Amino acid sequence: MQETHHVAVLDFGSQYTQLIVRRVRELGFYAKLYSPEDISEIGHPGAVILSGGPRSTSEPDAPDIDFETLKSFGVPVLGVCYGMQLLNIKFGGSVKASNQREYGPAMLKPTSHADLYEGISAESQVWMSHSDTVQDLHEQAEVIAENQHGTPVSLKWPGNFYGIQFHPEVTHSHEGLRILHNFLLQAKELQPFHIEDFKREMIEGIRERVGDRQVVCGVSGGVDSTVLAVLLKEAGVKMRAIFVDNGLLRKDETQEVQNNFHRMGVAIETVDASDEFLSALAGKDDPEEKRKIIGNLFIKVFWDSVGDAEMLAQGTLYPDVIESASNAKSKASVIKTHHNRVAKILELQEEGKVLEPLAELFKDEVRELGASLGIAPDILGRHPFPGPGLAVRCPGALDKKRLDIIRECDAIFIGKLKEYGWYDKVWQAYAGLIPVKTVGVKGDERSYEWATNLRAVISEDAMTAEWVDLPAQLLRETSQDILNQVTGINRVLYDISTKPPASIEWE
Ligand code: XMP
Repeated sequence: MQETHHVAVLDFGSQYTQLIVRRVRELGFYAKLYSPEDISEIGHPGAVILSGGPRSTSEPDAPDIDFETLKSFGVPVLGVCYGMQLLNIKFGGSVKASNQREYGPAMLKPTSHADLYEGISAESQVWMSHSDTVQDLHEQAEVIAENQHGTPVSLKWPGNFYGIQFHPEVTHSHEGLRILHNFLLQAKELQPFHIEDFKREMIEGIRERVGDRQVVCGVSGGVDSTVLAVLLKEAGVKMRAIFVDNGLLRKDETQEVQNNFHRMGVAIETVDASDEFLSALAGKDDPEEKRKIIGNLFIKVFWDSVGDAEMLAQGTLYPDVIESASNAKSKASVIKTHHNRVAKILELQEEGKVLEPLAELFKDEVRELGASLGIAPDILGRHPFPGPGLAVRCPGALDKKRLDIIRECDAIFIGKLKEYGWYDKVWQAYAGLIPVKTVGVKGDERSYEWATNLRAVISEDAMTAEWVDLPAQLLRETSQDILNQVTGINRVLYDISTKPPASIEWE
C-alpha cells in the first residue's frame, strides 16, 4: 500500500497500540504502525499518533522521539498516555513520575468543545491506564479536558499537537471513537482505507513477486488460508494448494472442504495421512505430547508432498507481524502455524521466497477481503477449528471409535445450531467426548457408556470467552438426538465455563 497521507502510529509498547491502528481503519483511513526509531521511514503522513507505553519518561533510557522530524511533517499529532507525557516534555513541560497506578474508568470533562471534543458529552467515561502524570505545562499549552478531580487529562499545543491521558481506542472509553475521529478531522488530507484498493494492490504485488514461479500453500478450510488461496487464484499465478487430512477432522469435513474449494474454482490436492496420524497417536494420553506428535507429523507430511517449492505462501496476519516486531524489535514476521516453524521456511524466507499477502490485515478485514473476492458467507463464517482438530476435544488417548463418536455428536449439535439460526451467532461451538463411563438405562437395559460435552462460546479474540445461553429447546433436541442416535453415549452435558479459568477446548 502506498504510504502517503496515511496515519502513522508510533508504537511505544502499549498493549493497546494495535487497537489504535484498527480503530483508524474502522473510521475509514489507512493506518500503519512504526517503531519510534523508524520515524524517518514514515514518508509523508497525513497525521501521526504516539501510542501509550509501559515505561516512564523519567527512566534514563525511556523511549524517545525525534521531535524535529515530527514537527517537520506539519500534520496533526496526537499523543496518547505515554505519548502525551512525551510531548509535554518536548514542549518544555514536565512529568511527575509515580508508582501509583490509575487503572480503570474515569470521567472526562472537556473544557472546550472544539477540535477533539466537538459533540462530546459534558461528562464522558474514559479508560485510564497510567502511573505518571503531566505536571508543569508549556505556557502555550491549553488544557482542553479535565477529569472528575479537575486534573488536566487532555492538552493542546501550538501546531495542531494534542495529548490525551486516557485510551480512546478501548470500548470502555464510551466516546473514544468519536474523539479519535475528531482528531483525524484535523488532518487536511488522509488516505482512505478501502478493502477493494487493498485487494487490487495485493494482486498486483503478488504477480510482480511471483512472476512465473510456482507457489505452494497449505489450506485447512479455515478463513485465512482460504482467502489466501483465492487471492492467489485471482492473481493468476501458478499455484498448488495442499490440504492434509490428519484423520482428526469433523464429520465429512474433507468432502466439505473439497466442495468449498470446487465452488471457488480452486483446485486442491488432498493428502490422506489419517492412518499415519492415528498410529502415531495410539496410546498417547498426555495433551502436550499429543500436540507435539500432531504438529511434527504435519510438518513432515506437508513438506513430503510439496517437494521442491519455488515459493511458499502463508496466511500471516497483521497481529502476528506486529507481535514479532514489538517483541523482537525487528520487522521479520512471525511464522504462524506449526507447519511454518521448520528450518525450511526460514531458509525460503532468507531467499525471499515466502509470500505473505495478508500481512497488513486484521482478521475481520480478511473476512471483508474474502467477501470482496466473492467467497460465500457460509465459507467465511465457518467457526474456528484448532490445528490438532478433534484430538483436543477428547481428553486422554484417542482411537477411531472415540473420534467417530465425537464426529456424530458434533454433527448433530452443529446441525441443530444451524437449524435454529444460532450457528452464526456463536463464535465457536462443538461437541467433545468425556471418556468416563457412567451408568444409565437404554431401552430396558442397563447402559455403561461415555458422556459428550457440548460447548458454545462467544469471544472476540479467543483470549477470553463466555458460554452462550442457548435456547433450552435447542439443547433438549440436541440431547435427545444424540442419546437416540449415537452408540456409546448415554449422557449429554452442557459446558458453562467461562475462559478464563477454563479454556475453549478441553486440552
Ligand atoms: P483455547 O482452548 O486455548 O482455544 O481456549 C482458543 C482458540 O484457539 C483454538 N486452538 C488452537 N488452534 N492450534 C490451533 O490452530 C492449536 O493447538 C489450538 N488450540 C486451541 C481453539 O479452537 C480456540 O478457537
